[in-house]
Parts: sequence; C-alpha cells; structure tokens
Amino acid sequence: MSTIIAVAGKGGTGKTTVLALLIHYLLKNGKRPILAVDADADSNLADALGLSGDRSLSTIGKAREDFFQTKGSVPAGMPKEAYFELKLNEVLIESRDIDLLIMGRPEGVGCYCFINNVLRKYLETLGGNYPFVIIDNEAGLEHLSRRTTNDVDCLLIVSDYSLNGLRAAARIRNLAQDLRLKVKKFFLIINNAPSMLSEQFLQELHKLDIDVAGCLPEDSLIPQYDIERRSLLTLPEDEAAVMAMEKIAQKILT
Ligand SMILES: Nc1ncnc2c1ncn2[C@@H]1O[C@H](COP(=O)(O)OP(=O)(O)OP(=O)(O)O)[C@@H](O)[C@H]1O
Ligand SMILES: [Mg+2]
Repeated sequence: MSTIIAVAGKGGTGKTTVLALLIHYLLKNGKRPILAVDADADSNLADALGLSGDRSLSTIGKAREDFFQTKGSVPAGMPKEAYFELKLNEVLIESRDIDLLIMGRPEGVGCYCFINNVLRKYLETLGGNYPFVIIDNEAGLEHLSRRTTNDVDCLLIVSDYSLNGLRAAARIRNLAQDLRLKVKKFFLIINNAPSMLSEQFLQELHKLDIDVAGCLPEDSLIPQYDIERRSLLTLPEDEAAVMAMEKIAQKILT
C-alpha cells in the first residue's frame, strides 16, 4: 500500500520546497523508492529535486495531446490503449530513488474520456509500485475543485506566517471537506516562521481547529540553492530547514 501525500496552499508559500524537504527526509530514512508527481502546470519540482538537467522534460499533458491529435496513427496490430500506455511510460523520469512524473497542461477542448480513463488506470497502477507517492500542486483551490487532489492519505496545507495565510489555509481545508474529497488527514505547515509565534497568531490558529505538523524557519540556503539550480536534496543534514522537516515528517508519518 502506498502512502500518498499531497500539498496545497496559496502561491509562493513554499509548497514545492516543503515537498522537496520531505523527500530529503524520506530518502535519508530509507523510505524509497518515491514517485514524485508534479501536478503544477507551471512546474518546478524537477529543479528542486535536481532531475531536470539540461533536457526539456516531457509531460503527461504533451503525451495526451499528441495521442489526441494523432488518434488514427497507432501502429498496426497494436491496441490503442497499449500504445498510449507506452507513450505514458516514456514520460516517467527515472532516477535511483525517485521517479518523477510531470503532469503538464490540462487537457484541451474535445472528448478526452478514453484518454483520461487509460491515464487514470495507468496512474493507479504506477502509484501502487511505490511506498510513497508525493504530489506537488498548483497554488489555490483549482485542483480541489477539479478533484485531482482526491484519495490522498495526507494533505499538507502550507501557509506563510500571516493571519491572511492562515485564513486561506482554512478555506482550502473547508473546501476539501465540502467537496467530500477523500483526504484522510489534513496538516498545516507554517513556512518562514519565526522561532516564537505571536499570541495573536496562536489564537487564530486555535480557531481553525487543524492539526499543525510544524513550522519551517526561513533558511538562507534554500533561495541560494534555487538560484544556483542545486537540488534541495543535497542540503546538509544539519541545516535548520532540514532539521525542522525531520520533526514535521515524524508527526505526519505516525
Ligand atoms: N523556508 C524557506 N526559507 C527560505 N526561502 C524559502 C523557504 N521556503 C520557500 N522559500 C523560497 O520561496 C520561494 C517560493 O517557494 P516555492 O517555490 O516552494 O513556493 P510554492 O508554494 O511552491 O510556489 P508556487 O505557488 O509558485 O508553486 C522560492 O524561491 C523558495 O526558494
Ligand atoms: Mg510550487
């Protein structure tokens, strides 16, 4: 059985960073292999994980679009479904401990029912091969409404250190509940948090009635790695954010 962990939150709150740090923790603790899914059309998880290199990365969206446009040209004797699965397999970026799947753009106009059915089955089967599936999402609430964040064990909602951020996090949790998405557990992570949270912030937090997985401090190595295009998986183990994630991950995974 896989443990599926997804992320949600306002733009730029640190969703991708949180997941990269979580993967850093999982790998250090022998929890591998991991399937990382980048479901943000404006994706950058590959960079954070050091998997992009210089190549242009293929996406599920591109494979779906190519198949849609050239439906007639499946090789003779090959079932359509098997051919599309073959194309989907080519999208998977494989490395030693992490495989990465980039979802890319959502579907265009037209009937994608057949394609999306094959895709759903493919993703289910693929995910089952990994003990951990980690899904990065776009900002906002869209992925909840589209029900692409469904059937997850744990939804990490990332907020910055602001009352506004907390309220946005609550809206995300409430919408997921209203839509009856299958989410076993919600956790809040406060990113760029000071070492002491203010009384007012704590009061607002209390009102939300959501489990707090923990706080991540502002860590100057994170933007530096980003600028230098270095993988966050190579952050030193004694780095403040890495150590903070250790506590957060232990809470999430118990
Ligand atoms: N704890 C932190 N300390 C320092 N910088 C951070 C921290 N968390 C995130 N950042 C920086 O903030 C920026 C936004 O982070 P990130 O890309 O993870 O956010 P996001 O929520 O995934 O954004 P988007 O909504 O665009 O997907 C990045 O430049 C990242 O390096
Ligand atoms: Mg992101």
